[in-house]
Amino acid sequence: MNSSNVLGTFAWLVLFAGFVGSPATAAESESVRILVAFYSRTGHTAALAKAVAEGARKAGQTEVSIKNVADVKCAELLAADALIVGSPVYWSNMAGEVKSFFDRWSTDCQVLPPAFPMKDKLGAAFVTAGGVSSGKEIALLTILAAMIGNRMIVLSEGQALGATATTGEGKLPLDEEALREGRDLGERVARVAFVLKRGRRNP
Ligand SMILES: Cc1cc2nc3c(=O)[nH]c(=O)nc-3n(C[C@H](O)[C@H](O)[C@H](O)COP(=O)(O)O)c2cc1C
Repeated sequence: MNSSNVLGTFAWLVLFAGFVGSPATAAESESVRILVAFYSRTGHTAALAKAVAEGARKAGQTEVSIKNVADVKCAELLAADALIVGSPVYWSNMAGEVKSFFDRWSTDCQVLPPAFPMKDKLGAAFVTAGGVSSGKEIALLTILAAMIGNRMIVLSEGQALGATATTGEGKLPLDEEALREGRDLGERVARVAFVLKRGRRNP
């Protein structure tokens, strides 16, 4: 092969690599970051969190991370396109650990007015509770209220206000219905996050 042939072949290889590489790069930039943050003392909310993450992954083009609220770093909070928060119901409310997580946004992460750095990110909630109707909806609402106060866009799936599971004071494993609710919530959040992100890129 003479030198002009070698150069020609090289040029074609570069062009081909660029062509093959470009769709992957576009897909990467289109992918959405979903953060599933939860507290769980006896494992039930953690199990529902896994189902939520599974649903979000199922939607495709997602980078999903699942973390205990205590381990969430400010950078990953601020980098997320959507945040799905889970808590056990404690006295008809979110657990103190989850409330502290929200409080730390302002004390540690500079999530403050007037900038509202979480503004326009998607938010959703899930809870597990001992009783069928012993505070689940209030707990879901307190989580959603913290998000709305931060100017986030909230949505639900599963039950009216989010995904739920009844654990009989922690004695029962999660049933298939609860796991399905969790997966549906994760999948819906991921799909809407993707549509929002694409819409913002191509207004
Ligand atoms: C301090 C405390 C308060 C609780 N309060 C409620 C309550 O108000 N309503 C309810 O249905 N269950 C209540 N429970 C039960 C938990 O919500 C339930 O066992 C939950 O599934 C535990 O989640 P985990 O396994 O992720 O820790 C309470 C449990 C504890 C420890």
